[in-house]
Amino acid sequence: MKNFNNKIALITGAGSGIGQATALELSRRGSELWLVDINEAGLEDTAKQIQASGGRCHTRVCNVGSSTDMKKLAKRVHDTHPALDILINNAGIGVAGRFVDTSLKTWNKVLDVNVKGVMLGCHLFAPNMIKQGSGHIVNVASAAAFIAAKDMPVYSMSKSAVLGFSESLRADLHEYGIGVSAVCPGIINTPIVANSVFEGKIGQSDTVKNKAVEFYKKRNYTADKVALGIIDAIEHNLAVRPISPEAWAMYWAKRWVPGVVDWLGRKDIPFMAAD
Ligand SMILES: NC(=O)c1ccc[n+]([C@@H]2O[C@H](COP(=O)([O-])OP(=O)(O)OC[C@H]3O[C@@H](n4cnc5c(N)ncnc54)[C@H](O)[C@@H]3O)[C@@H](O)[C@H]2O)c1
Repeated sequence: MKNFNNKIALITGAGSGIGQATALELSRRGSELWLVDINEAGLEDTAKQIQASGGRCHTRVCNVGSSTDMKKLAKRVHDTHPALDILINNAGIGVAGRFVDTSLKTWNKVLDVNVKGVMLGCHLFAPNMIKQGSGHIVNVASAAAFIAAKDMPVYSMSKSAVLGFSESLRADLHEYGIGVSAVCPGIINTPIVANSVFEGKIGQSDTVKNKAVEFYKKRNYTADKVALGIIDAIEHNLAVRPISPEAWAMYWAKRWVPGVVDWLGRKDIPFMAAD
């Protein structure tokens, strides 16, 4: 897809970070947006910025992990448009903690949002794209799908699932003229870490979380660069699109030096180590 003007695009997690930046970028390029989030204030903020620059958008408060919410959303969208041109399954939550410290409640929550949310988006919107004979789906995965850090088993599992699912879905939908891309951002300065659940030793106080937040701030790789990477993935129908330099490094390392990736996974991430 080369031209975004007058395209109908839906973005989940559009009230903050990467989702908000991508919504603004698509709006600048002339798309009509459906903005979806559980955070109503965030959604309104994105919508105001779009409307202030003359863009068109609709907002829906919706939990992507709830099939009831997502079915209502799909009905509402399809009552207005026969099909989406662009679906960006971006909503996600972060989590950190060693395997034995991660509660089942956390596993369920993360898998509901990060995996089931992506699956539901595709399940409910792809059939109409198939009827239309065109469209593009972007699923936001992570470089955590390339390197399995020991403090991130549930996050890593969720993002590996998104990557594997996206690659299979891409092969499946190819014959219908629909592209599917998995985007793997890297370390991006958004509120995700501040909103993440930290469990076990690293979650006993806010020290480790604050260190991680500071590290992401200092790294300062911005969400608008991820938005441009998402646009690139759609324009060139890319299967997998790492974004930041560290995401590219992990992508290539996984292929060329898997032993180094294995060794790195066992190391403490400097900004995540408990004192
Ligand atoms: N920031 C990073 O470093 C980074 C790195 C790799 C991958 N990612 C992925 O990028 C995506 C966006 O993250 P971000 O960094 O912009 O984070 P963010 O916290 O700024 O934005 C995530 C948005 O998703 C929304 N959300 C959370 N749960 C939801 C639910 N159940 N239903 C609907 N909306 C929900 C939040 O309210 C928030 O507005 C996520 O999937 C994340 O895992 C981020």
